[in-house]
Amino acid sequence: MKYNIAIDGPAGAGKSTIAKKLAEKLGFVYIDTGAMYRAMAYYYMNKGIDIDDKEAVIAEFDNINIELKYIDGVQHIYLNKEDVSSLIRTAEVGENASKVSAIAEVRKKLVALQQEIARSINVVMDGRDIASVVLPDADLKIYLTASVEVRAQRRYKERIEKGEDADLAAIEEEIRQRDYRDMHRDASPLVCVPEAVVVDTSYMSIDEVLEHIISLTEFTE
Ligand code: DC
Repeated sequence: MKYNIAIDGPAGAGKSTIAKKLAEKLGFVYIDTGAMYRAMAYYYMNKGIDIDDKEAVIAEFDNINIELKYIDGVQHIYLNKEDVSSLIRTAEVGENASKVSAIAEVRKKLVALQQEIARSINVVMDGRDIASVVLPDADLKIYLTASVEVRAQRRYKERIEKGEDADLAAIEEEIRQRDYRDMHRDASPLVCVPEAVVVDTSYMSIDEVLEHIISLTEFTE
């Protein structure tokens, strides 16, 4: 039996937290596709290549190798054999990932890799185009969302807890811009497919969200 779960939604809705825990509970493999776009962005930032220069971005493809590995059940992402898992978690890399992900050729490269991974194993995959493009035949499709205000509050709290400076109004504006870019790009924008189950996490705890999603799978007795 093979079972794939697609989770899409805007930045800060809780996709990675939920997808990770869901995969753990079900014994599936969690695939964080955002990390792949982030690793690409990180490569260009380090090389000093302008992400708005599409030709220059595409010209580097043969020099970029992205791999996912699992160490003690935790996903690690490798860029040209270097573990960049923690280096890609900054707001700046997130911004640049959003930009690089608007290039159709970049998407084509990463979608092929994502489909290859999901072909042989049960996955919980999260991103923006999983239900619409990567896994259109996924067994369960979830659109995870939350209000802009709640998502901004969560980001704010995360940054304060990490000891970083944070400005709530600026974070809210960042989120609005990222949503706009992710939803309005030409190449596979973030959409909620008609068959997806919408889960608004604004006023739900992590456990409530997990319980709800598990009740939608065919594993519940
Ligand atoms: O989920 P995240 O913040 O790690 O994603 C970073 C950016 O990558 C996001 O702004 C849009 C892009 N992305 C995408 O276009 N398609 C995906 N499947 C995953 C992420």
